[in-house]
Amino acid sequence: MYTKEWIYLFVLGLVLRTRICAGNVRVSTQGATLSTNGSIWDTWAVERAFDGRTGNPGECGCCAAIERPTWLQLNLPQTYFVKRVVLQGRTDRHSISVDVEHQLRNIVMVGGYDEHHMTEQNATLFSDIKRTYDIRPPQAMQAIRVIGLETEYMTICEIEVYRQEDCMNGTYGPNCESRCHCLKGPCDTINGTCGSGCQAGWRGAACNETCDNGLYGRDCLTQCGYCLNNAYCNKTSGVCPGCAAGYNGSLCKDECENGSHGLRCQNMCGNCQNKVPCNKVSGVCPGECEPGYNGTMCKDACDNGWYGQSCLTQCGKCLNNTACNKTSGMCPDGCAAGYTGSLCIGVIQSELIGPAVGGSIGGIVIIAIVIVSIIAIRRRRSTPTKRHQFDDIPVAIQNGKDFKIDQTPTTSDTKPLKGPNGAILNAVYANTGSPEEDGLYYNSEPLHRKRKRTEIRLIAVDKLQEFVRDNYQNKTIFQQDFDKIPYGLQHPTIVASAATGKNRYKDMYAYDHSRVILRTIADEPNSDYINACHVDGYMEEKKYIASQGPVNPLIGDFWRMVWEQDVFIIVMATKLVEEGKMKCLKYWGESKPIIH
Ligand SMILES: *[C@@H]1O[C@H](CO)[C@@H](O)[C@H](O)[C@H]1NC(C)=O
Ligand SMILES: *[C@@H]1O[C@H](CO)[C@@H](O)[C@H](O)[C@H]1NC(C)=O
Ligand SMILES: *[C@@H]1O[C@H](CO)[C@@H](O)[C@H](O)[C@H]1NC(C)=O
Ligand SMILES: *[C@@H]1O[C@H](CO)[C@@H](O)[C@H](O)[C@H]1NC(C)=O
Ligand SMILES: *[C@@H]1O[C@H](CO)[C@@H](O)[C@H](O)[C@H]1NC(C)=O
Ligand SMILES: *[C@@H]1O[C@H](CO)[C@@H](O)[C@H](O)[C@H]1NC(C)=O
Ligand SMILES: *[C@@H]1O[C@H](CO)[C@@H](O)[C@H](O)[C@H]1NC(C)=O
Ligand SMILES: *[C@@H]1O[C@H](CO)[C@@H](O)[C@H](O)[C@H]1NC(C)=O
Ligand SMILES: *[C@@H]1O[C@H](CO)[C@@H](O)[C@H](O)[C@H]1NC(C)=O
Ligand SMILES: *[C@@H]1O[C@H](CO)[C@@H](O)[C@H](O)[C@H]1NC(C)=O
Ligand SMILES: *[C@@H]1O[C@H](CO)[C@@H](O)[C@H](O)[C@H]1NC(C)=O
Repeated sequence: MYTKEWIYLFVLGLVLRTRICAGNVRVSTQGATLSTNGSIWDTWAVERAFDGRTGNPGECGCCAAIERPTWLQLNLPQTYFVKRVVLQGRTDRHSISVDVEHQLRNIVMVGGYDEHHMTEQNATLFSDIKRTYDIRPPQAMQAIRVIGLETEYMTICEIEVYRQEDCMNGTYGPNCESRCHCLKGPCDTINGTCGSGCQAGWRGAACNETCDNGLYGRDCLTQCGYCLNNAYCNKTSGVCPGCAAGYNGSLCKDECENGSHGLRCQNMCGNCQNKVPCNKVSGVCPGECEPGYNGTMCKDACDNGWYGQSCLTQCGKCLNNTACNKTSGMCPDGCAAGYTGSLCIGVIQSELIGPAVGGSIGGIVIIAIVIVSIIAIRRRRSTPTKRHQFDDIPVAIQNGKDFKIDQTPTTSDTKPLKGPNGAILNAVYANTGSPEEDGLYYNSEPLHRKRKRTEIRLIAVDKLQEFVRDNYQNKTIFQQDFDKIPYGLQHPTIVASAATGKNRYKDMYAYDHSRVILRTIADEPNSDYINACHVDGYMEEKKYIASQGPVNPLIGDFWRMVWEQDVFIIVMATKLVEEGKMKCLKYWGESKPIIH
């Protein structure tokens, strides 16, 4: 007689059973093999333990019996995630000759990929006739071994194996909880292996490991760009949460374009000299600033009253005390009373007295060939506190009347003039670059070197001769004046920068505003360029030319300049060779004429 409670229990049990069994699939007996190390009882062969049948062995002939101690191994045709194993014993407990109580005792069950990787499982339920192993989480097994210890026989009528359902494509592993990350197609449902390689962001045989921080993409081979705050990029796409200063693009691999810098490349560079791009991160100019600007970013215009490179030069005396042009130093409205020249630094004398230098020549243009030699640089380096450029530069002064260039001027047969000669002061000594042994060029001065601002020493022309005479022996006074010359290029040199091959020294270019412009030769680029600048004389513009000493193939240009500019005195301020180094080619003939 069933009571109401019994019926409820029965129904509940049915429900529970269904739930537990949901997702379990019985592994079919097909293709499986069995083996043992022990002796079989009679015809109770091992195959009977996996034939799909259970019951009374006397009636079904479906049980295996092996003498203990022994093992019985089941090899499935493929690996499954096994969720449960049930060992069924013989059920004929009423038969007198059979010891049913011991048939499933002292049994150990192990399982795994193969017989070398088997782990012991714990029985979750067992009775005299049935031993159940619930395996959570499911384990990958192809081999299942039942070990019977002690004596008597191990009788097993059936090994029931239940596995999890096949994983949906795209998932694998125990309970199908892992997602495949294959580049194409499904992965192996057991171990996740992809036939096609891994999706971007994943690596490993099972494509189940993410890229190391800082790497992304297929096989994690690509490095992240420059993410803001050194963050790691998205391992799949490489996208940064934001870019570090100096970079943009979603991958933060694009450097800011020339001329911009900073976060999102939003800031514009200042006024770097020769328009070289500023540092993409900091905005700092790599070299000096354009004349008229200073500060590391070259964004600060010079204070009123100062101009030129690094704002180190003081304006002349402009009319009404106005500030001069910060680039060129020119006074916008002309000079204050008593001053002259485009820079308003010349002092007008009430009575014109011929200047000591050059003036007596009257109308003659002197070309001072100025070659900054490696000697000068070496000396400057070896005695860094003192400069001696003037010591090495003989300036030949000759009267124009019967002037003949027929030999190299040397220190012994010309009269050296050491002093603040206008031609020299305005010449290119301020900037010294020089070819190294290997033919490369370098900057002889560190960038952004610290210099003091100094006032210009004004000497009235009628006092110049006296001044030179009185201070002739006093080198420091000339040294001081020399040190006031602003270092580096002071004005734009766009034409010169473009005239490759025509400048012997890096950063020693002819200024756009004062360069000597040669007549253009058709089809010859830069044919109007020579590294030579006009230099104002006393009360007279463009009285001199300061020129680079010609080397091949520039001798032709040099003579064109002499011809076109109507030059008739050339003062050579270098030797052809100094300290074994060629400084200037011999551009004139001696016993025979030469033709250029
Ligand atoms: C079979 O295996 C069992 C369990 O490992 C072991 O105890 C027994 O000695 C083996 N029998 C033979 C005959 O090798
Ligand atoms: C079996 O049970 C023992 C003791 O409770 C435990 O240490 C071991 O991890 C269990 N093994 C498995 C496979 O669950
Ligand atoms: C999984 O993918 C294979 C091959 O791409 C296909 O043959 C199979 O039907 C798919 N199975 C499921 C459950 O989507
Ligand atoms: C990836 O899969 C392999 C093999 O299936 C496994 O040994 C490893 O632990 C897994 N790694 C991770 C991070 O899940
Ligand atoms: C994953 O399983 C496949 C198929 O069984 C096998 O060929 C492959 O070697 C296995 N990969 C790993 C890493 O175990
Ligand atoms: C990484 O990028 C992928 C594709 O763009 C996206 O689906 C994923 O959510 C991103 N991951 C993170 C952690 O943002
Ligand atoms: C990156 O910055 C440059 C300016 O430096 C801009 O022209 C470009 O459009 C930017 N690119 C992106 C993807 O924002
Ligand atoms: C940017 O400037 C650098 C250095 O002056 C130069 O080498 C490069 O060619 C420039 N790039 C562009 C796109 O103008
Ligand atoms: C830039 O020059 C101005 C004068 O023109 C001066 O006041 C300022 O201190 C200078 N700044 C730097 C950073 O040198
Ligand atoms: C000179 O400056 C004064 C006052 O600073 C001003 O009144 C005068 O108009 C200025 N003259 C010129 C020519 O700019
Ligand atoms: C300063 O002089 C330069 C040329 O030397 C010129 O380009 C610029 O326009 C002048 N600036 C002003 C404010 O006049």
